Amino acid sequence: MKNKKFTVESFSKSKREGHIISMLTAYDYTTAKLLDDAEVDSILVGDSLGMVMLGYDSTLHVTMDDMIHHTKAVSRGVHNAFLIGDMPFLSYHTDIKTTVENAGRFVQEGGAQAVKLERGREVIDHVKAVINAQIPVLGHLGLTPQSVNMFGGYKVQGRTEEDAKKLIDDAQILQDCGVFALVLECVPESVSKLISEKLEIPTIGIGAGRYCDGQVLVIQDMLGMYRDISPKFVKKYAEMGNDIIKAVRSFNYDLNNKVFPEEKHSFQLDDSVLRKLY
Ligand code: KIV
Repeated sequence: MKNKKFTVESFSKSKREGHIISMLTAYDYTTAKLLDDAEVDSILVGDSLGMVMLGYDSTLHVTMDDMIHHTKAVSRGVHNAFLIGDMPFLSYHTDIKTTVENAGRFVQEGGAQAVKLERGREVIDHVKAVINAQIPVLGHLGLTPQSVNMFGGYKVQGRTEEDAKKLIDDAQILQDCGVFALVLECVPESVSKLISEKLEIPTIGIGAGRYCDGQVLVIQDMLGMYRDISPKFVKKYAEMGNDIIKAVRSFNYDLNNKVFPEEKHSFQLDDSVLRKLY
């Protein structure tokens, strides 16, 4: 799979061949290029950018224009990873025509290859319409953050028999409708295992345990940069937040102690020209 374009077909192929799909979020060109160079399979321009990039307290404030702006930047840095744009709150909740037009903007303006929509049976007509428009759809069940006000907070979903059954049914409905993969967020490990075993399409877990067919993390979380909240399911692969603070403190120190800039960081003028300036 390395150094090769990861396509929509690579998702089902990965599941068949037992390759665990890696997915990370990115919101800007530089990060996207680094992730692509590191051979991540897929990049999601998540509406989590509302929190980690724009400083909102939820994803509900993110607009289509925010998403397109960041998707454009990311797509300029991506060559091999499969690029997915996250449809924000209210961009697919009204009529079908608006939904398809918004999904189309991710592809036409943003350069994404697919879009992600949250929830199951409630949005199924919208999902079908987007797929009919030849735009691959990534499903998203479990803790769907755009429903935070209905859930009454960011809570693990699918803990009761009724809720777990609904999740399992919704997963099947989304597969039948043609989504190419399914994000499962904050659901008990045993429920995501059952869904992963039942489905032919791959599941991509976040806080959904060990048995999903792939895993996704928010890049600022896994690099230790976003410090407002620290979810239990995140593994920090770096402490870049601490590194950034240390680096900025060193910069302050260098300025106060006249250690930076040095001669090697400066541009010099020919003496003959300089003399004429005095
Ligand atoms: O917005 C996002 O980053 C997401 C992922 C966490 C799946 O939806």
